[in-house]
Amino acid sequence: MSAAVENIPSVEVLANGHAYHNGANGVGNGVGGDVSNGVGSVGSARAWEQQFLPPPLVLEDRPRALKIESRLSSLVLCGATLRRVGEVFQREIESGLRERPSSLQMENTYVPELPDGTEEGVFLALDLGGTNFRVLLLELRAGQLVREDVKHYHISDELRLGSGADLFNFLADCVQDFVRAEGLEHEEMSLGFTFSFPMKQHSISSGELITWTKSFKCSGMAGVDVAALLQRCLRERGLRVTVQVLLNDTTGTLVAGAHKDPEVAIGVILGTGSNGCYMERAERVQHWEARHARVRDVVVDIEWGAFGDNGCLAFLRSAFDSEVDDHSLLPASFTFEKYIGGKYLGELLCAALRGLARDALFPAPPAWGALDSAHLSLFEQENLSGAWSQTSDALRTACGAPVSRDDALVAQHVARILSNRAAQLVSVCIATILRRMGRAHAAVAVDGSVFKKHPRIRSLMDKYIALLAPHHRFTLQGAEDGSGKGSALTAAIAARVAARSP
Ligand code: GLC
Repeated sequence: MSAAVENIPSVEVLANGHAYHNGANGVGNGVGGDVSNGVGSVGSARAWEQQFLPPPLVLEDRPRALKIESRLSSLVLCGATLRRVGEVFQREIESGLRERPSSLQMENTYVPELPDGTEEGVFLALDLGGTNFRVLLLELRAGQLVREDVKHYHISDELRLGSGADLFNFLADCVQDFVRAEGLEHEEMSLGFTFSFPMKQHSISSGELITWTKSFKCSGMAGVDVAALLQRCLRERGLRVTVQVLLNDTTGTLVAGAHKDPEVAIGVILGTGSNGCYMERAERVQHWEARHARVRDVVVDIEWGAFGDNGCLAFLRSAFDSEVDDHSLLPASFTFEKYIGGKYLGELLCAALRGLARDALFPAPPAWGALDSAHLSLFEQENLSGAWSQTSDALRTACGAPVSRDDALVAQHVARILSNRAAQLVSVCIATILRRMGRAHAAVAVDGSVFKKHPRIRSLMDKYIALLAPHHRFTLQGAEDGSGKGSALTAAIAARVAARSP
């Protein structure tokens, strides 16, 4: 860890006309040699701070622009605040690993190693958690994927919000449909279950749901082992399929990423929800339910979507965040995810524009739910190219009122501020993990719709991670289908580890 050499001095910073104070003597992160040797100047610290600020809103009506910036200032985070978030994150990580009270689950996934190129076999994989449910058949030969068949199934709102038993029976029906279509109904097969929700894992193949997140809220699941429940439903259908591994999508992303590049040590999802996992030293992990004498490192699922649910991030929350939270399926839960996840970015855009409309700074409030993260990406895309016609078309539909060029620029500015904040918060998490791991270079495998579709998010993350962990070289790598391929690879790793056990 290089925290000791990353102090920067205290400095007053103006963010869109608002003064933020960078607390004195904190453990900071400079960028560039001049501020990272402990003797940085106020000028270089100011330059460091400036890089976190979004560009100002420029309108012909300058008083309006200033009022809007003032109204949105609670969404603008300065470097000092982000540094504080990183310090809290680091503390919560430590507490979570020690099984002390923490908003971070820091779940032991029991995945003790990454692919080594010897993975073999035919596997089924299930991917549940995002917008689609998928069943996959994957064949690995000497670590290479030589076959991949995929089928998507729609999960209705009724199933997402109904009983857990109905949901799992549906999942098993889909597996049956899939193996029938593949002509494999009577085959013995191993299955990797990518279940992208927080779990208390008891082993690599068992775990209980802690809470639903995103758009799922099924009843009757408290204390239920989701792998065992799926297994029972499969058996009831006469299928000879064994649930070999239970994993999170971040784990799948890390494993699939490491398969392509052995330097990958962190897996991140920036999609409907957001989360990360990384290779942690096994001795630092308190929660073990089995012998692990020979395990050196283990994948830990952080569940950073819940970061701050214990109140430790109250200083970040704006009135717009509270509005989004109040409208959500699971209020007061996974609050950090509600700042970052694609499920919420459109709602934040809506909340902010509604706030501006209330203050007569925007022509009319968009209807709740009328804007989603695709709109945010569109507004950002147009902003990048200096256009505004599609932004104003979308706003006219969402607000049911005429929208001028300046109004479109205001909405693009809001999108910019929200994108900036999301990129900064996810970057704080990644930077903290990089510093914690202390490797000379680490690659981060990233998957998810926001990462793939948002035109600016990747470059923003590159910039902010470098600012927050200046002494740690990293690369962000777009990961392809961690939930599918990663699941099969993890099943193969589990088989390899089991074969080695005495
Ligand atoms: C939510 C889930 C988490 C998952 C993430 C991304 O935060 O709790 O397990 O990794 O979404 O899908």
